[in-house]
Amino acid sequence: MNQANVVQSTAVRVDTFLDDVLDGLSRPHKSLPSKYLYDERGSHLFDQICELDEYYVTRTELAIMQQNASSIAHQIDTDVMLVEYGSGSSLKTRVLLDSLSRPAAYVPVDISEEHLLNTAEQLRLAYPDLKVLPVVADFTQPFTLPDCEPPASHVAFYFPGSTIGNFTPPQAGKLLQQMAAMLGQQGGLLIGIDLQKDLDVLHAAYDDREGVTAAFSLNLLSRINRELGGNFDCDRFQHRAVYNTLHHRIEISIVSLEDQVVSIGDHAIEFAAGEGILTEYSHKYTVDGFAKFARQYGFQLHKSWTDPQNYFAVLHLVIE
Ligand code: AVI
Repeated sequence: MNQANVVQSTAVRVDTFLDDVLDGLSRPHKSLPSKYLYDERGSHLFDQICELDEYYVTRTELAIMQQNASSIAHQIDTDVMLVEYGSGSSLKTRVLLDSLSRPAAYVPVDISEEHLLNTAEQLRLAYPDLKVLPVVADFTQPFTLPDCEPPASHVAFYFPGSTIGNFTPPQAGKLLQQMAAMLGQQGGLLIGIDLQKDLDVLHAAYDDREGVTAAFSLNLLSRINRELGGNFDCDRFQHRAVYNTLHHRIEISIVSLEDQVVSIGDHAIEFAAGEGILTEYSHKYTVDGFAKFARQYGFQLHKSWTDPQNYFAVLHLVIE
């Protein structure tokens, strides 16, 4: 593919990973940013999670998209610049693209250039008439939308997967605020959100029988060993997923099974037995609750679609 066609935004500093790890592990309540779960092995394990029986999220959202494709596409309309937060590698994207009539351009936005360019190329082959304009950017920061000719009549953001649920409410609010500012008056946001449900279903989804989610979590320690010269012994740590009923979220931690000292380069990090490193939140919403939250940032709920079990919802929000 022609590299000149790629819009490059925020550059990632190489030493940021080490700074973030040392910062998170020196706090009284240890934590690590969830974005570091997704190196090559982590992304592969996450793909496996999406296939698990217990992980209802991916197949439920896909079914909602398939069953309501024309109604969803109708809200987004013709001549749209469809901007996806993520690389656009999923089946959901294709369901949407198959149903849109005459999109002006499709803009996948992702921080991983290699992954983004691969999926952009695949989409070009599958949709030869579609203008695919990938943007390499960290979408948690403002980025510039590409020009397209002829110009799109409006912009629609697509943020599937309930990835918004991995942000804290202030982070999610900041993201919605940025989206609203970038969208302008005619714009809309199509977003997938995971809904509140039975605790057994949630616990099984985030702590599966085969241990794929546990491997996904613990890979973060292996990544620190590989890339930052750490000496974590993964057998001395355990994956834990607990639902917090007050904040309506799964909280994922890596728990130390014993008192131990781990080194990362020249730095020594002490762990007490039972001490956790928080690695991920996964917030669960109600449609009304999310609509109320988004209203604070200028969005109004226009339409929503859900599945028969009410496990997941796809929302179309417009600028008020
Ligand atoms: C990417 N994100 C929406 C997943 C979720 O369900 O919160 C991440 C995940 N972590 C463990 N399992 C899935």
